[in-house]
Amino acid sequence: MKILTVVGTRPQFIKAAVLSRAIADFNKSSSNRINEIIVHTGQHYDKNMSDIFFEELQIPKPHINLAIGSGSHAEQTGNMMIALEKIYLKEKPDLVLVYGDTNSTLAGALTASKLHIPIAHVEAGLRSFNPNMPEEINRVVTDRISSLLFCPTDTAIEILKQEGIPNKRYNCKVIKSGDVMLDSALFYDKQTTGSWLKRHNLKKDQYILATVHRAESTDFTEKTNNIIKALDKISKECLKVVWPIHPRTKAKITQNNELQKLLEKSNIDIIEPIGYLDMLCAEKNSRLIITDSGGLQKEAFFHKKLCVTIRTETEWSELIELGWNKIAGLEQENIIYAVKQMLSTSSEKLPYPDLYGNGNAGAIIVKELANLGSN
Ligand code: UD1
Ligand code: UDP
Repeated sequence: MKILTVVGTRPQFIKAAVLSRAIADFNKSSSNRINEIIVHTGQHYDKNMSDIFFEELQIPKPHINLAIGSGSHAEQTGNMMIALEKIYLKEKPDLVLVYGDTNSTLAGALTASKLHIPIAHVEAGLRSFNPNMPEEINRVVTDRISSLLFCPTDTAIEILKQEGIPNKRYNCKVIKSGDVMLDSALFYDKQTTGSWLKRHNLKKDQYILATVHRAESTDFTEKTNNIIKALDKISKECLKVVWPIHPRTKAKITQNNELQKLLEKSNIDIIEPIGYLDMLCAEKNSRLIITDSGGLQKEAFFHKKLCVTIRTETEWSELIELGWNKIAGLEQENIIYAVKQMLSTSSEKLPYPDLYGNGNAGAIIVKELANLGSN
């Protein structure tokens, strides 16, 4: 069976590492081999947004890199589709595998659907119910045209059910796989060392880790301004804030004199994006996580850390219901208030159910892929 995996962004490299390893394990014990071809769209291309993950996580090097790079949504997605179509026609995969909700996900899925190639979607059924989020459009469309929908949680299964998926008219199957990000965190956690802490002269529980990259946080000067001011105040009044800055956020701030000055005179520790092993180390030694990242909200929970989400909603609503995560919005005072509340909350008594499976999502997914191949 030939599977063509489409990836392009940082979180997708991490998710794909889980599946590539599960496929290799499957091939050791099965005569029904899965041959995986990895196509990197080039959506992320800086060394510390791309190569570092392939090197560190020992993911097979992409067979093809389309080097599409940055652009407007239509330009980026369209260019990916044009390039992917040629590859699909040449490689003739039995299935296209896509992850999450980025423009690379949408391009990979749409191109496959037009060529009648079945699609497997890992991280199906997630919704923010915010139609202005580019990721929401990408998810809804990808779920609607996928044949195999791998859901990380019961909530995701329920959301799909409410949207009429699965449905007798469409030949698709919904599977609760658990979350591949949990597989990943469990697997790589053993490989982390404390060297990141030492290099940054930080001590366990003595800093707050922050990341910000969403369009909603970076495309509006006023919102970015609120976030910088809030993080600065938190860093002065509560605990040092360490912020590995996403290139999108850095570019937006650099292009705006006022924001640039605000950041320069702030008390926030700005660092370049870090590798995944360092990130796991940074997360598990932090006192609290402040983020608008989907991945970090869950990784906070995996490490039993409280999280403040600087967004107006989240796809990972179960973490809000359980008290591990708090939605702060994007206003300065509300962010500071939520952080102070979380810093005075003890997480010890919070429920800790296995929301995201037990770390074998990769194996569950590969088994289903192989079943499809043998039908
Ligand atoms: C993308 C995804 C988002 C995901 C995030 C993970 C979409 C619509 N968004 O957002 O869902 O959460 O990846 O990190 O697909 N840039 C660089 N170097 C890079 C990559 C990006 O400088 O290697 C800068 C460029 O200025 C670029 C900007 O970041 O224009 C945005 O990059 P893009 O890939 O379009 O979106 P992300 O914000 O990274
Ligand atoms: N990550 C990383 N280094 C960083 C920031 C994030 O390795 O400097 C990892 C993080 O641990 C998580 C994933 O990247 O596994 C999340 O990616 P991101 O926040 O860019 O995207 P999202 O999850 O919001 O789509």
